Parts: sequence; C-alpha cells; structure tokens
Amino acid sequence: PRKIIIDTDPGQDDAVAILLALASPEDLEVLGLTAVAGNVPLPLTQKNARIICELAGKTGIPVHAGCEAPMRRRLVTAEHVHGKTGLDGPQLADPVMPLQPQHAVDFIIETLRREPAHSVTLCPLGPLTNIATAFERAPDIVERVQQIVLMGGAYFEVGNITPAAEFNIYVDPEAAAIVFRSGVPIVVMPLDVTHKALTNRARVEAFRALGNESGRMVAEWTDFFERFDMQKYGSEGAPLHDPCVIAYLIRPELFAGRHINVEIETQSDLTLGMTVADWWGVTDRPANALFIGSVDAEGFYALLTERIARLP
Ligand code: BDR
Ligand code: CA
Repeated sequence: PRKIIIDTDPGQDDAVAILLALASPEDLEVLGLTAVAGNVPLPLTQKNARIICELAGKTGIPVHAGCEAPMRRRLVTAEHVHGKTGLDGPQLADPVMPLQPQHAVDFIIETLRREPAHSVTLCPLGPLTNIATAFERAPDIVERVQQIVLMGGAYFEVGNITPAAEFNIYVDPEAAAIVFRSGVPIVVMPLDVTHKALTNRARVEAFRALGNESGRMVAEWTDFFERFDMQKYGSEGAPLHDPCVIAYLIRPELFAGRHINVEIETQSDLTLGMTVADWWGVTDRPANALFIGSVDAEGFYALLTERIARLP
C-alpha cells in the first residue's frame, strides 16, 4: 500500500474522501490526518477529522491540528456550502479519540524525514497552508515527497468562490504558489473534473442502501451538500470534489488529464487565486502538474460504494 498523509478541512466531501481512504487498506496506508482551517475554522476541522476516524472505526489514526489561518491573509470560510459545523446534515456526537499534541506542520516534516525518500504522498483536500508552511520551514523535505495529489483549482469551469478562483486555492494563494513551484510531481483535481462526478438520486440511495452507518452518513452528507449546488448550478446533484483525490490513488485509470504548466495568481484582486492553466500549451513554461479533466463517473461511484460498504 502507498503511504499517504491527508491534509484536510472537513467538509462533507473531505469526510467522504477520508472514509474512502480508511476503507482501502490494501491500496493506502494513512499515516495521519492533518487538519487545516478552510471550510470552517480549525477547531471544527480537527474535531471533524476525529469524528470521521471514529465513524470508520479507525481511532488509531493520528489526527494533528495545523495552521489556523492562511500564510498572509485572513481566513475565508464556506459555511454557506458546508453549514455551521462543516459537517452539517446528520447528528454527530463529539469525538472521544484525542487530538495529537504535535502541530500538523511538525508531523508532516517529521514523517517525511523519517520515512524513506519518495515513499510518502501528500493529499491536500483544503487550502495548502500546512503543506507550504512545512516546505518553507524544512526545505529538505520537498524532494523527499513522492507526489502531491490535491483537490483545487479550475480552468474551463473557472471559479466557485469568485468568478476566477476555486475555494481551496483562493483561501491561501501564496501557499498554493509555493506548492506549485516546489518541483514535487503534482496531480490536480480541479473543478473541471469534480463537476463531472456529480451525485444523483440513484448514487445517493446506493450509499443509503448499504445499510451501514457510514453509508447512511455519506447519504445524509450528500443530501445536505446537494442543496447548495443544485440551487447554485442547477445541476442534478453535487460534486464530490475531494474523494476524486483518493479515488485517483486507488484507480488512476478512472481519470484522464494533461501534463501542463499551472501558475497561481497572487496579486490581482479580480483574479486572486486563479489557477492559470496552460491547457493548450501556448507558453513555453515547463509542465509542473498533471491537470485532470475527465473521470469515469460510473466507475468512480462504483468504487466509492464498494469501499464505503466495508466500513461500520
Ligand atoms: C473544495 O472546497 C471545499 O469547499 C471542498 O471541501 C473542496 O475541497 C471545492 O472547491
Ligand atoms: Ca476540502
């Protein structure tokens, strides 16, 4: 199994991503979850990360709290999408498993120094603050990272928090710029692909019909999540953004994209956080990311359902 650290701001779709990873031990060894401020503030994201581990029956997974604000900006949150708790929808009890005392950034640095070089993949599902802070503080770890597979950005689908920017990149564009310039092999799951992985009635009911608690939670989270997207985009269902990252690690053949150059806008008020993706190769800037554009949505939901079925 491939060793991963999931950096996350749960978030209903983060929750489904984490469940998918925890349900897939033959493919993925989750070394830890690192929480970051994003969809909701850090006290909630770290608590939500622990709730999800407990739901999956994986209370031994270390959960670390990281940065509570972007590197150089005030935090922008997304309660309008995820609700006040970040995991609105079903009733959830407070977690019992402890938060690790170590800061997430230190955990990331220590883990990358301890594990063999090129054996740990980072999976950022929120703003890139923890990852970029670790890279700045410990430049020696950058070349030890195997790969970064992240959810963020958009090209044809442009923005969801501003007309030009996707939420995760917009919240901490300086951090995103550090990550995209790091030289680490990056795979990007932008809105262009996540908007092709929409829920629909049959897909949500398939989760509910699994009969386990995890399946019921996934159905209730997506029910909640859908309300926003259906109103906003008029789409049939909601995009399950973050699970695309984990699905890619398990079944890369479900996805297709292009190796291209991606730069992050950090200056302009109008297009702050835009992922300027050279999809058509009109510059000679070197490729720094595999930018995913399409997904086999049936295969993606089949994988999700099959794996969530294994959980309590
Ligand atoms: C991203 O922003 C968050 O709201 C979701 O969890 C996802 O990571 C989508 O733009
Ligand atoms: Ca997220």
